[in-house]
Amino acid sequence: MSLIEKYGAEIESIIARYPHKRSAVLPLLFIAQDEYGYLTDAAMREVATLLDMPPTDVFEVAGFYSLLYEQPVGRWVLQVCDDVPCAFCGAEDLIAALQAKLGIAVDQTTPDGMFTLQRVKCLADCDHAPVLQANLEYYHDLTTPEKVDAVLAELRRRAESGEKLSISGRYADR
Ligand code: FES
Repeated sequence: MSLIEKYGAEIESIIARYPHKRSAVLPLLFIAQDEYGYLTDAAMREVATLLDMPPTDVFEVAGFYSLLYEQPVGRWVLQVCDDVPCAFCGAEDLIAALQAKLGIAVDQTTPDGMFTLQRVKCLADCDHAPVLQANLEYYHDLTTPEKVDAVLAELRRRAESGEKLSISGRYADR
């Protein structure tokens, strides 16, 4: 089923917010990556068609933003800020702890498809460093292994409870 068949009313209401259709490219890409799990070539071409844009313009947008994924990702995308303030407050220890607990390296996904681990730059939450963003939810002051364990357990519990998750953060204002 195509995006417009499944999300027609939502897509039309998003496009109606903007004076130019192409301005709706980000919210439509978020819908597409939630639907397909990541931005496949076909998904980006579908968005381009909906917005009367050249596909190459959509590919450029997808390649620019760290919240748009062109490769398959887990149900939770864990993005750790490794910028200077977070680095001073233990970002590398946090990344090492996540790698050890999940058994993956940065830019990999756990075999069960639950978690993808990524590095990102400043998440604008420097006064609570080190910071982890899980989909679009922030977890602050992750300075001990116990805090990391608690976050991973909570995220896993929520995924296994059947909660509707969005790697694009579309339901983050629950
Ligand atoms: S440096 Fe990490 S949130 Fe700003």
